[in-house]
Amino acid sequence: MSAPTLPLDMTAPAAKQQGGEAIRFENVTLAFDDKVVLDDISFRLPHGETKALFGVAGSGKSTILKLALGLMKPDSGHIHVLGEDVTQMSEEALFGLRRQIGMVFQESALFDSRTVRENVAFRLMEEGSVSEDEIDRRVREALSFVELERTVDMFPSELSGGMRRRVAIARAIVTQPEILLYDSPTGGLDPVTSTTIVELIVKQRDVYKTSSLMVTHRLQDAFIMATHYFDRNANKMLPLPKGVHCEVPMAFLILRDGKVIFDGDLDDLAKTRDEYIREYIA
Ligand SMILES: Nc1ncnc2c1ncn2[C@@H]1O[C@H](COP(=O)(O)OP(=O)(O)O)[C@@H](O)[C@H]1O
Ligand SMILES: [Mg+2]
Repeated sequence: MSAPTLPLDMTAPAAKQQGGEAIRFENVTLAFDDKVVLDDISFRLPHGETKALFGVAGSGKSTILKLALGLMKPDSGHIHVLGEDVTQMSEEALFGLRRQIGMVFQESALFDSRTVRENVAFRLMEEGSVSEDEIDRRVREALSFVELERTVDMFPSELSGGMRRRVAIARAIVTQPEILLYDSPTGGLDPVTSTTIVELIVKQRDVYKTSSLMVTHRLQDAFIMATHYFDRNANKMLPLPKGVHCEVPMAFLILRDGKVIFDGDLDDLAKTRDEYIREYIA
């Protein structure tokens, strides 16, 4: 990646709330018709941590993100986001809570008829109270973070898949959210481009330390994240020395048949005897 222009006035939002949890699922169960998708799921995402959520297609990963955003209600159980129980909140209160969450949707989900600038500015414009100069400054800052300042006047159709994904990340971080949710950020990308997106997520993690839940269908991506850090001087992702953990705690959550079959760090993962998991980490 090129020119290091880290907007340093955007300090880690996680620092605002030390301790406690960004997200907590407590015995969450959800079925569609007679198909139980989530069966008594519990997990926590502590403030400032990053958690990779892995499972095969259809295992309920996107559903977990929708539940955390309060876009769906579980059949039973509780979901706390930034200390509030989203299963009990009004639409209006949820709207306020969602403003503190940045979401990177599956397949980027950019507005095709809007420029990169308008896509990234979208939520700031929605706020209604941010001045045009301030919007422009923050959009440029977010685009500079993902190293795409030059695309500000382009349309999504003029960008490659990897660039669109970077714009989606800029759009999610522009509001300086307390929590970031990524839905399969490398889905549909070739391996080389995937790695550049993982590098960007690692950069976001290590620079801002935003509490993040990253859905992935590629356990490989989460491995790279757990074994690398973003070096600000070199302005790139580098491998951590052997035995050294990244500064931001990085955990893995693995779903299978509606259950959490693993919740722990890389060391725990390496030690697991679970045959199904071993197949994926072999
Ligand atoms: N709104 C819905 N109505 C009915 N079934 C749904 C709905 N949303 C998701 N599902 C089903 O729930 C399961 C989990 O979906 P999803 O969370 O999208 O999986 P993943 O993101 O892990 O691929 C799938 O079998 C899917 O078909
Ligand atoms: Mg999904």
